[in-house]
Amino acid sequence: MILGLETSCDETSAAVLSGEGEILGHVILSQDIHRVWGGVVPELAARAHLAVLDDVVDAALAEAGATLSDLDALAVTAGPGLIGALLVGVSWAKAVSFALDRPLVDVHHMEGHLFAPRLEDPDAEPPFVALLVSGGHTLLLDVRAWGDYRLLGRTRDDAAGEAFDKVAKLLGLPYPGGPEIERLARDGDPARYRFPRPMLRGNQQPESSDYFDFSFSGLKTAVSIRVAELESAGQLDAERAHVAAGFQAAVVDTLVSKTLRATAFAGVDRVLLGGGVSANRRLKTEMSERLGPAGRVLCASPRLSLDNGAMIARAGLFHLSAGRVAPPELGADAALAFPGLRERTS
Ligand code: KG4
Ligand code: ZN
Repeated sequence: MILGLETSCDETSAAVLSGEGEILGHVILSQDIHRVWGGVVPELAARAHLAVLDDVVDAALAEAGATLSDLDALAVTAGPGLIGALLVGVSWAKAVSFALDRPLVDVHHMEGHLFAPRLEDPDAEPPFVALLVSGGHTLLLDVRAWGDYRLLGRTRDDAAGEAFDKVAKLLGLPYPGGPEIERLARDGDPARYRFPRPMLRGNQQPESSDYFDFSFSGLKTAVSIRVAELESAGQLDAERAHVAAGFQAAVVDTLVSKTLRATAFAGVDRVLLGGGVSANRRLKTEMSERLGPAGRVLCASPRLSLDNGAMIARAGLFHLSAGRVAPPELGADAALAFPGLRERTS
């Protein structure tokens, strides 16, 4: 059995997995405190992890009918993320690994998201193109094998989830913004306001990096200008759902179009969606419609798309099977490099 811990942002989570990757116990505790501030406050996040981590682990172990000494290994998110928050999980995992004399595996948070669909679907194995969309990252990868990641595209400014969160704030919606925008957009007409599709032009060539790269800050600015106009005309309340729908349509169109460029380029017809934004139903539907009947979308259920300990444990199992364990001097790294990631040209 392996214990996976996730404390990189505002979810405190622990999971117990069998060696075959079956979830035996899993607890995810979201920190509500950040709703008061309209975004994650790093110091509060770290303190909240510290206050509940023991109990979260105990609850996951109890669900699995196990105790700490039954564990064969531990896996922990070592980065990227908020440094204080990461340190809580890493310090806890190091101490327990040392005390029990069990191996510890350090996991990159985004590689964890890559493994989430595999928790529920044995077919979620490479090769595929992966679109990883979270609050801090937007990555388009050509995945030939676990551990072998060719970077096709990434965001040049805001992450996709960050764009959802910022636009939600502009519209007066609470944090996190993604689910709020998705809910509001259901009552809106996506064609009423046409927002720009950033870095998506017909004349781009696969040789240039903007063919696959993303940029969301200009889109956010376009929405903020429109919101200001509607507000001064006293029409924002009546138009809010239409703005949300138009924004969501622009993000989804951009994400899907770039991903389809990647599948054509890589010669694969399967797409893995990971990260919090992959909980978005419109993204999943449009991806699978435009991929066509020959293609396949691999995506975890919403609970496992968001931050969780099970995906960290599952990525940990892969690294353990490859003989990789963390050194005793392991630290948390807020800007940890994605392991096995290589540039498109290499
Ligand atoms: O992966 P995640 O849980 O945490 C990070 O690693 O950042 O992703 C959180 C992000 C937030 O920006 C949140 O607004 C977004 O995922 N998100 C969504 C949806 N649910 C969460 N974005 C769009 N639609 C959703 N349904
Ligand atoms: Zn995440």
